[in-house]
Amino acid sequence: MDEDGAFRPLRVLAAEPIAQGIMRFDLADPDGAELPGFTAGAHLQVRVPNGMIRRYSLCGDPIETASYSIAVKRDAAGQGGSLALCDQVKAGDLLPCAAPRNDFPLLGNPVSRLFIAGGIGITPIMSMIRQLQAEGRPPWKLIYLTRSPAETAFLDDLSTPALKGKVVIHHDGGDPDRAFDLWPLLDQPKGRHIHCCGPRGLMQAVRDMTGHWPASAVHFEDFGSGGGQKRADDAPFAVRLARSGTRIDIPAGTTILDALRAAGIAVSHSCESGTCGSCRTGLVAGQADHRDLVLMEHEKASHLMVCVSRAAPGTDELVLDL
Ligand code: FES
Repeated sequence: MDEDGAFRPLRVLAAEPIAQGIMRFDLADPDGAELPGFTAGAHLQVRVPNGMIRRYSLCGDPIETASYSIAVKRDAAGQGGSLALCDQVKAGDLLPCAAPRNDFPLLGNPVSRLFIAGGIGITPIMSMIRQLQAEGRPPWKLIYLTRSPAETAFLDDLSTPALKGKVVIHHDGGDPDRAFDLWPLLDQPKGRHIHCCGPRGLMQAVRDMTGHWPASAVHFEDFGSGGGQKRADDAPFAVRLARSGTRIDIPAGTTILDALRAAGIAVSHSCESGTCGSCRTGLVAGQADHRDLVLMEHEKASHLMVCVSRAAPGTDELVLDL
């Protein structure tokens, strides 16, 4: 795979169910060459059979360069990418993939790490705990929340005696009354870092419960579901660039970032899911509908993340510090 993000075919070594509605794909170079290395938390961009490009976290050991592993949840209510992958791709096929990238790295030097995974959000965290187990530090704990044992990927890997005391797996059966109470774990930061990946509701709840934590200690990853940032009732609006006065229309279904790019305005970006913080942009006027997991409450009047956020209902124009 090219460093510039170009897609090259990888051979599918295995395509196997690992839980109800979840498939694991093992991928290797067709000629048996070593693959580019990756760091824990990285993802792979994959062009699936229907032509869509989707990103999937690498869930294997980062020291493994003979093959990559991704796990994909077959989402019948999604945009068709996971269905195309899970239903059409089989062992022996070639799958176009870009080089690994990482928007969710293990940063800092915390006293310990707390991982919180919901459903298929376990995938990037698998590579993290494989790395930490190999390195032997720092101490870590995983809270893994799923609906049922049948829907729990990597159940065997996470139930080994070596992980005893480090992994808590909680099944709620889809019943909010049986939801795991995270607050006792999040009450005090205690020098820890959190990495959280899962459904948007879980990540928002963790964001809300960690407002008193240092911002640099709380990390989120959107695992490619689209995150729910786009909504059926999204309305068009406009942004005005404060420095030039240029007005740019943002149609429903188009992000501010996409419209800025189309207009030739460069804004740094990476995850495009409101989690990495790189597209933070000054907000000069107008009320935003914030859909990110980055900004703290006190920042929301003066900044927005242009990859996901929009104008609040009733606001026709946002003025950006660009
Ligand atoms: S690009 Fe990552 S938060 Fe916007």
